[in-house]
Amino acid sequence: MSTKNSLTITDNRTSKTYELPIVDGTVSTMGLRAIKTDEKDFGLMGYDPAFMNTASCRSSITFIDGDEGILRHRGYPIEQLAEKTTYLEVAYLLMNGELPSAAELETFSAEISAESSLHENMKGFIQSFLPNAHPMGMLIAAMGALGTFYPDAKQVLDAKVRRRQIARIIAQIPIIAAWSYRHGVGKPFVNPDPSLGYTANFLSMMKRGSEPRYAAHPDIVKALDVLFILHADHEQNCSTNTMRAIGSSQADPFSAVAGAAAALYGPLHGGANEAVLHMLNEIGTIDAVPQFIKDIKAGSGGRRLMGFGHRVYKNYDPRAKVIKSLADRVFDILGKQNPLLQIARELERIALQDEYFVKRKLYPNVDFYSGLIYQALEIPIDLFPVMFAIPRASGWLAQWEELLMDKEQKIARPRQIYTGIMLRDIKR
Ligand code: ACO
Repeated sequence: MSTKNSLTITDNRTSKTYELPIVDGTVSTMGLRAIKTDEKDFGLMGYDPAFMNTASCRSSITFIDGDEGILRHRGYPIEQLAEKTTYLEVAYLLMNGELPSAAELETFSAEISAESSLHENMKGFIQSFLPNAHPMGMLIAAMGALGTFYPDAKQVLDAKVRRRQIARIIAQIPIIAAWSYRHGVGKPFVNPDPSLGYTANFLSMMKRGSEPRYAAHPDIVKALDVLFILHADHEQNCSTNTMRAIGSSQADPFSAVAGAAAALYGPLHGGANEAVLHMLNEIGTIDAVPQFIKDIKAGSGGRRLMGFGHRVYKNYDPRAKVIKSLADRVFDILGKQNPLLQIARELERIALQDEYFVKRKLYPNVDFYSGLIYQALEIPIDLFPVMFAIPRASGWLAQWEELLMDKEQKIARPRQIYTGIMLRDIKR
């Protein structure tokens, strides 16, 4: 075997041979442009709708091996992060490359606490939505609106200003989420109390009634914190790619997060956790599972088994494994079972033995079991994608900052293959 790190291509149209260097297991598609039939020819392009086999960036944040079911942030396995760290430590890790020391964590937490209030006008903004408005739509709109309160956010090339916006977004996204929820159920907004800690503060804003201080069960706070850790980043997925695409035009990060959240909203991405619950409710009983699987396989209505399958994982999603055991712990603490869990387990059991799913390497993904935990915490189904967006904001922002620092990046602007009419005249 040759040790030469290059690819030799022969263009059979011209019989010319080209050599492209192989770097990090990739060839540059810009290198293909030299392959031309004549001087006027634009040159060869790569064609890859949906980026099935195209790396769009270099990143040192998250590593995934989809065949082995491995997920690591900055080298740390997700299982260890879930067990031994907090969400804020993971957010710091994504942003800075290292887990924080005690002093660094204190400073980071203080920066976030200092930004933990929403401008008074945001109350009116959230209250202007219909009570049945989808909270994800509210989050997208509110995040875009929030950027107008911070004109300095436009200075995306200033590191200090960037860090301030990052703290603002991480601090304020749970407030928007909780207030959107409380608006929908007609309850007064609860002001943030950062002294509770990031995740307990979110639960307090969601759940506090007339009591002066909401004391969430510490194990429930830990369970939700683990869910936040598991959702914090997942390299170049649909919403992160959107964050980077918007960020590449040097738009402010509030606008970019609003766009990323819009991408997350779809049922094939972060909206899947909501879709899983609707699916489990529709199935209704364990007996109905085999027929449901048959219908999916028959492709009736183009339906999919929601919470199954992944573009990258062709093995069990490691996050789903952690969530599955977390679900048992949460149900134990709350002293109640979610009957839908039995249906979910039966779906998984049958699907993992079924030739259709085995052949296509379709395993449960992060969204298959997460909704069952949210439901046990009495979080309404339409808030599930918002629960995903809260921690993913830290991943989006880490990736956004990495993009802005990357000298190889430019404004994202793919090419196309034009398939329309080339030229015609208006006959009038
Ligand atoms: N149920 C049934 N069949 C499926 C499913 C599923 N959930 N997912 C993929 N398939 C089938 C496809 O029909 C296709 O079959 P074919 O080869 O006979 O045509 C084959 O598996 C490959 O599917 P693709 O659509 O090419 O896979 P892709 O990588 O594009 O899609 C995706 C990945 C979008 C996640 C897909 O598996 C899916 O729709 N899953 C359900 C929605 C979901 O759970 N999304 C959450 C993903 S995790 C996240 O975003 C946080």
